[in-house]
Amino acid sequence: MNTPLSLVVLISGNGSNLQALLDAIADGRMQARIAAVISNRPDAFGLERAKAAGIATAVLDHKAYTDRDSYDAALAALIADYRPDLVILAGFMRILTPALIQRFAGRMLNIHPSLLPKYPGLHTHRRALEAGEAEHGCTIHTVTAELDGGPILAQASCPIETGDDEASLAAKVRVLEHRLYPEVIQGFAEGRFPL
Ligand code: GAR
Repeated sequence: MNTPLSLVVLISGNGSNLQALLDAIADGRMQARIAAVISNRPDAFGLERAKAAGIATAVLDHKAYTDRDSYDAALAALIADYRPDLVILAGFMRILTPALIQRFAGRMLNIHPSLLPKYPGLHTHRRALEAGEAEHGCTIHTVTAELDGGPILAQASCPIETGDDEASLAAKVRVLEHRLYPEVIQGFAEGRFPL
């Protein structure tokens, strides 16, 4: 294990969770360094966030690959170049192959916007509202071959209130996510979660 913990962060879009990690490092709340941010989309705003923080970025555009196996093989090689302790999925919106997951088994974390095992997959806020749930939240889990199904490391929840819609609920969950991800990664840095 590196000291501080070395991370590679995978994103596809806005990167607000990446920003939360950058802020937690800057504030001294998380003893980690981000070795690189990798995006499958060239236009992901999170790449700008990484550059602004002086972090190395790489784009591996899935559209340049004909199949999932060859994309994930290239992605695994790219990640491995940085020798991270942890691979952090932060809004990386791709289904991963078993070979990639196996290569980083136990060292790849994902954040998901629901209280798993409820609402794996997409449109979690809408589905929680439609189901009349009283609460909602986010989950951080170790990535296994089962989609959004790996062992749960931590969850944070909030009430669903009268008048909440998809946007207000998404905003509430984002606040929870931004607090929880740095806490869990710091847990690895302190050995509370084994690597
Ligand atoms: C986050 O809400 C994250 O939980 C979700 O994507 C969003 C990314 O936001 N991830 C998934 O749905 C994965 N199944 P961000 O780009 O602003 O961090």
